[in-house]
Order: sequence, then C-alpha cells, then structure tokens
Amino acid sequence: MVLSGYENPITLFGVYFSRAKEDVTHDPTALSLATATADGVPSVRMVLLKAIDERGLVFFTNYDSRKGHELAHNPHAAMCFYWPKQEVQVRVEGTIERLSDEDSDAYFRSRPRLSQVGAWASQQSAPLRARELLLKRVSETEARFEGVEIPRPANWGGILLVPRKMEFWQGHPGRLHDRLVYERQGEGWTTSRLYP
Ligand SMILES: Cc1cc2nc3c(=O)[nH]c(=O)nc-3n(C[C@H](O)[C@H](O)[C@H](O)COP(=O)(O)O)c2cc1C
Repeated sequence: MVLSGYENPITLFGVYFSRAKEDVTHDPTALSLATATADGVPSVRMVLLKAIDERGLVFFTNYDSRKGHELAHNPHAAMCFYWPKQEVQVRVEGTIERLSDEDSDAYFRSRPRLSQVGAWASQQSAPLRARELLLKRVSETEARFEGVEIPRPANWGGILLVPRKMEFWQGHPGRLHDRLVYERQGEGWTTSRLYP
C-alpha cells in the first residue's frame, strides 16, 4: 500500500487496522506502550488498544501500576504497533488523559466476569510473595460480589493517548521503506516524509 492521500492519521490508521484484523495469526490490537518517570527514565510493556477515534487511542489498566504512576507524574507517552503481514509499523507520541468514569464503567461492564474479578484481585505491579495469595484474593473477591454485578475498582480504568505525532512505516523491497509523519497543527495535521 502506498502512503499517500490521507489527510488524517486516524483515518489512515483505520484503513491499516481493518486490514491487520484479517490476519488471524496476530492480534493487531497489541501495542508497546512506553512511559517514563518524571526525570525521564523510560519503561515499556504491551497493552491492548480498546478504542480509537478523533480524540485518540484508548487502553485500560490499573492506575496504581508502575505505568499508572509514571503517567501520573509524566503525561508523555508513546505507542508502537507492528502488523507483520502488512509490513507496517505505526508510532504514536502524545500526552495522556484519564478516560471519564462513565466511559471506564461502560467498558468494565462489558468485560468477562473473571476479568472483572481480576481487576479487584490484582494489585498490578506490586510485589507478590506467592501466586497462592493472588488466587486467594480472587476467591475472596468472588465471594464478596457473589450474585451481584461487580463494580469497577476506582483505581482501574481507561487512559486516552492524545496523539501529537503519528508515523506510518510501510515496508518496501530493498529497504526502500516509506515513512510518513503526521504532526498536529491546530485542528488539523501536517505531513512530511523521512528517509527510511
Ligand atoms: C499481549 C499483551 C497485552 C497486554 N494488555 C494489557 C492491557 O491492556 N492492560 C494492562 O494493564 N496490562 C496489559 N498487559 C500486561 C502488561 O504488559 C504489564 O505486564 C502490566 O500492565 C504491568 O505493567 P507495569 O508494571 O509497567 O505497569 C498485556 C501483556 C501482553 C503480553
């Protein structure tokens, strides 16, 4: 695919994303999420993209996790997607905002019950002395909410990355790859190309 003719990176993302979903051997929603401490020490881990629209890209996590703490003190973050079948990499850079309680509640309600239990049971990123302790917390959570709808824990919810910059990398033979960069300018976007 040739990277041209799209004024808006979110639209272009959608075109690639719908193609990437056709590859059943790979989860196209999986992305690397980079965060950094207030003094700039980086860390990276995988998360899943759960929504994307004109405002930005959304994932869900525990706000008290390592990434949650880093983002609370330094709102700059970056994402990287790789869709091997299409030889596409998408990089996103921007700042984060917490999703509204209503939107996080709506997504939490849509999750399988065991995942809802897990969100209560896991103190994500805190030291765990033995796996049995996690399973005990799962049983306790199941007992606590038996027969009732499980509410969203206050420390679990969505994070929106508002993109300032998005780069699409399309592989080409001979390493003559195509790189198209979108940068936010006011309400719109400017585009430029980079050498591969
Ligand atoms: C494919 C994949 C998808 C993942 N998706 C999420 C996710 O959507 N949210 C999340 O909090 N952790 C997710 N994880 C776990 C994270 O990679 C990470 O272990 C966890 O969030 C703790 O990271 P932290 O200690 O840096 O906060 C996923 C892991 C993998 C391998």
